[in-house]
Amino acid sequence: MDKPINKVRNKRQNFRTARGRTVSSTKWLKRHINDPYVNLAKERNYRSRSAFKLMQIDEKFKILRKASSIIDIGCAPGGWLQVARQLCKPDAQIIGVDLQEVQPLPGVTLIKGDFYDDETTQQISDLLKGKADVIVSDMAAASCGNHEADHLRNMALAEAAFDFAIPNLKPGGCFVAKVLRGGQEAEFLKTLRTYFALVKSFKPAASYEDSSEFYFVCTGFKPKL
Ligand SMILES: C[S@@+](CC[C@H](N)C(=O)[O-])C[C@H]1O[C@@H](n2cnc3c(N)ncnc32)[C@H](O)[C@@H]1O
Repeated sequence: MDKPINKVRNKRQNFRTARGRTVSSTKWLKRHINDPYVNLAKERNYRSRSAFKLMQIDEKFKILRKASSIIDIGCAPGGWLQVARQLCKPDAQIIGVDLQEVQPLPGVTLIKGDFYDDETTQQISDLLKGKADVIVSDMAAASCGNHEADHLRNMALAEAAFDFAIPNLKPGGCFVAKVLRGGQEAEFLKTLRTYFALVKSFKPAASYEDSSEFYFVCTGFKPKL
């Protein structure tokens, strides 16, 4: 039987040498090989350990089972898309968008493009049959090493996803966005609360404890007329 996804442990492994590696890449490698979610993702054929974050969001908020349409913004390499394919309705329309090429997935429409480009967002709206039940954004800007700058760049991505959600989400729909804690998220939270019946901050067990990342999970979309 599969292990519960929020209670996974790994045997710690050591590796032989850090010669030639920078301190940060050694740290990353050590964490990666000792990460139970990395191994579980391999075992279960998920393209990313992030897949478990969406599973844990869904376990808590039950956002996927009734969805007939979902847009996954920042979808590469496709872990969240795999989870959406498994947990949304079998005939659900699933659209994924990313700057990077994503290997094809059955039953998923992929768009390669920059979400900041109007051409990319227009392409998504054109493909979408009506409006979406669920819009999720796991977009992350490449870290520049400065927490304040990383925070602001990631806030901008989450806000761009929300600006897109306003005209493209069904009334009653759900929006999920990743943010990095850092100050500006309080203003964003205030805005989200004016558009949704419920807004929760949630850090899935699969999100690294020492990372400032968490998700706003917003349900019951109330478009402003
Ligand atoms: C953490 S990864 C997403 C992982 C994904 N949820 C999964 O489970 O496989 C973040 C992604 O955001 C994408 N991204 C960042 N900025 C973007 C932008 N402006 N437009 C589209 N995608 C973007 C990156 O290319 C990266 O693939």
